[in-house]
Amino acid sequence: MKIPLDNSNLLMSSLTAVLQVVTASRACGKTGLQSRIFGGNSFAPGEFPWQATLTYKGKPFCAGSLISDRWILTASHCFDRTATEDKRDPKLWQVHLGVSRMGYTPPESSAVTMVPSRIVTHKSYTKYTNGFDIALVELPAPVNFTRFISPICLPENTHRFSLRRTCYATGLENVPEGVPLESKRSLQKVGQILIGWRTCNCIYNTHKRPDLTNPTNSSMLCITESDGKKGPCQGDSGGAVVCEEDGVWFLAGIISFSQGCYLINSPTILSSASYYQDWIKQWTDNQVSFTPQTMAVVDDGDSDHCNDLLSNHTAGCGISQVKDPTSGVPGTWPWHVDLLRDGKRACSGVLISTSWVITAAECFYGHDTTDLPEDWTAIVGGGSPAMRDIAVQRISVHGSYISPGKGFNMALVLLAQPVALGQYSHAVCLPDSSHPMPYGSLCWHIIGNSSLSDDQIGTPHGDRLELLGPNKCNCIYSHPNSSDRAESVMEGMICASRDGQNSSQCLNDLGGPLVCNENGTWFLVGVYNYGGRCKEGTDFIPPRVFSQLTTQEEWIDKETREMFLRHAIHTPPLKPDTERCSSDDPRGCGRSVASPGPEPIGEATDKMWPWQVSLQQFEYHSCSGVLISETWILTAAHCVPSYTPLSEYTVILGRKQQNMPSPREVLRQIKRVVPHPDYKVKTGENDVALVELNFGVTFRDYILPICLTPDQALPPNNTCWVIGWGRVYPSGKSML
Ligand SMILES: *[C@@H]1O[C@H](CO)[C@@H](O)[C@H](O)[C@H]1NC(C)=O
Ligand SMILES: *[C@@H]1O[C@H](CO)[C@@H](O)[C@H](O)[C@H]1NC(C)=O
Ligand SMILES: *[C@@H]1O[C@H](CO)[C@@H](O)[C@H](O)[C@H]1NC(C)=O
Ligand SMILES: *[C@@H]1O[C@H](CO)[C@@H](O)[C@H](O)[C@H]1NC(C)=O
Ligand SMILES: *[C@@H]1O[C@H](CO)[C@@H](O)[C@H](O)[C@H]1NC(C)=O
Ligand SMILES: *[C@@H]1O[C@H](CO)[C@@H](O)[C@H](O)[C@H]1NC(C)=O
Ligand SMILES: *[C@@H]1O[C@H](CO)[C@@H](O)[C@H](O)[C@H]1NC(C)=O
Ligand SMILES: *[C@@H]1O[C@H](CO)[C@@H](O)[C@H](O)[C@H]1NC(C)=O
Repeated sequence: MKIPLDNSNLLMSSLTAVLQVVTASRACGKTGLQSRIFGGNSFAPGEFPWQATLTYKGKPFCAGSLISDRWILTASHCFDRTATEDKRDPKLWQVHLGVSRMGYTPPESSAVTMVPSRIVTHKSYTKYTNGFDIALVELPAPVNFTRFISPICLPENTHRFSLRRTCYATGLENVPEGVPLESKRSLQKVGQILIGWRTCNCIYNTHKRPDLTNPTNSSMLCITESDGKKGPCQGDSGGAVVCEEDGVWFLAGIISFSQGCYLINSPTILSSASYYQDWIKQWTDNQVSFTPQTMAVVDDGDSDHCNDLLSNHTAGCGISQVKDPTSGVPGTWPWHVDLLRDGKRACSGVLISTSWVITAAECFYGHDTTDLPEDWTAIVGGGSPAMRDIAVQRISVHGSYISPGKGFNMALVLLAQPVALGQYSHAVCLPDSSHPMPYGSLCWHIIGNSSLSDDQIGTPHGDRLELLGPNKCNCIYSHPNSSDRAESVMEGMICASRDGQNSSQCLNDLGGPLVCNENGTWFLVGVYNYGGRCKEGTDFIPPRVFSQLTTQEEWIDKETREMFLRHAIHTPPLKPDTERCSSDDPRGCGRSVASPGPEPIGEATDKMWPWQVSLQQFEYHSCSGVLISETWILTAAHCVPSYTPLSEYTVILGRKQQNMPSPREVLRQIKRVVPHPDYKVKTGENDVALVELNFGVTFRDYILPICLTPDQALPPNNTCWVIGWGRVYPSGKSML
């Protein structure tokens, strides 16, 4: 339960004055305090006597509400099974009642702790987003009611809460970075506006997020807060949202989920208590009572209109107040974040929510880097009046990252405090997987301001780039003049070049975002991966390659549970990416620039067999093949059996010596294998297969196709050559 609240160090000194013993009563919904609503955010002992804190294996996890002397009502998802644990085992849980804080020894004298005897989850519950997020926890013996322990009133199913007014959510205060969950934490309360499910849908639908369109129905309620600064967070699940009616507190809902913590225009979704009257009765054998409503609610205020509840100042994501991207004024790129390692600017990053930043994995992984959060600081609003340092709480490098050339060069950084979004600090929108940006779009690569000295962060600037399709990009990369490594752009990467501009500018910034504007909204399309850096002695700088965001929705969602995801405003047709690398190559097939000598066997000289390719599995040469066109090679069918996943292979072109990669090589992945239709595994008949590369190659002295013989056999007595990486020397070197 985390509710980070402003002024949480409430006036504890004045508390004693208000704390007056009220007679313990069996009636529900009565606070143990005389003052009915207590100012501030802390939770005075007895203020919400139905509050139950649950601990799983000794750590606070979820909350609940006491609804009778035997039963706690909470959320079903608290007991979700994981790969390794069955959380529905009651013996692993404890219920703490009569507490206003956790982790203190000795516990408060009012505290009662019990191991539950039974956990009942709703049988229709599957996932917290699919409703039925309600559960009952049975106590082994009736608990004695005191001023600090008494039940909340349950609403009958005809109960109508008056909406758009303040109700209260409760939970444990947020713990600072690195502090264990079980350490000292106070219970907090936070006022939130109760809204109906139609209004809640109206707010969520402004996000245009397909998986969160109309997320609620009549079995749910929501709470919201317009400034997006307070509210329930992870760990608050199962806790109560209570509303007062004529001096009696009712349980309106059970905290289920939200799109993230304290996000603007993202209400927290509750399971409606009144909706589940029959279910609760059934499982508690009528041991709990429902309290009739005394207050008449004429119009509860649930409608499809929500404009008045939407925060208009900083709504949604991807909005920059500066309309001219070239202006260079602060606030042009409000989602840009500078990441400092040991106080020195090291990387750029981009805000995707109030607390999460995406950057490159390279910043934290590899030579001379560190992924200890304490070594890092984030600066938001660089160069603006709202510039601010924020400590880093957690760094999560993409699990599939090995090196930039292999992709997944991304990491997520959790900030220790959420950023107050505004004119100078704002989150960018993430595109969902069905949201490609068309090739040819003009986008901007945002680069940190490193022109100033290390301890002075300036305004970032944007480089205008054109998006390129992978075919075109790979052709440029495999061009002989290309200065960069012979990388191939793979699945999950997107290229952009400074088309028509001078590309000799030296890029020296990791993790910078590539953003594209779609009808006024900025989307994060990529995070800088490699390329586009200048090299001495060359002026042919290939395009910049970015890790593509559309393929990472699941990873980001899993790691953060919060982001601003938006689907396409409109999906423009993709500009076809049909570039051919070598269409104008005049050389044709079979024209090597070097001829073999007279010796019948020997090491190949440079450029002698430019059509020879090495088929590799796990970085080891497994077979040879021969290049027959820009995108096809010919090899033996047994080298590429159908049971081996294509992702296991790499094709290396332009290689001379195994185990000695050279910069002239070009790597490709396999897109498709076409074995001979009459290939017989047993006899090896027709042992030949065509292999299509994922992208074409640019022909050059080292990489050229062989000619295929016409149908007739070659004239007899021709000298032919068998080419391969045989072991021709005692040294064991494999030479072509
Ligand atoms: C509410 O929505 C959930 C999730 O889509 C669904 O499982 C449930 O049946 C719905 N309930 C009602 C009353 O429509
Ligand atoms: C409730 O109070 C009675 C009488 O004081 C006591 O015997 C009993 O143990 C108490 N029950 C619990 C669960 O503390
Ligand atoms: C919306 O903007 C207007 C004018 O700038 C302002 O007065 C109003 O308070 C804003 N509403 C919200 C919910 O922020
Ligand atoms: C770097 O920041 C300073 C101060 O904000 C600004 O004057 C300068 O133009 C920036 N440099 C670049 C290259 O944007
Ligand atoms: C490649 O480099 C050669 C020699 O430096 C030069 O003549 C040629 O124009 C370059 N080609 C391109 C496309 O830049
Ligand atoms: C590109 O920039 C470099 C260095 O700033 C300069 O020497 C070169 O003349 C420029 N080339 C063009 C075509 O503008
Ligand atoms: C772009 O925005 C304008 C103004 O908000 C709107 O009228 C138009 O329909 C939008 N275009 C698309 C394709 O969404
Ligand atoms: C092929 O060459 C061999 C030896 O060099 C010779 O004996 C034979 O007659 C030749 N055959 C033809 C068809 O030229």
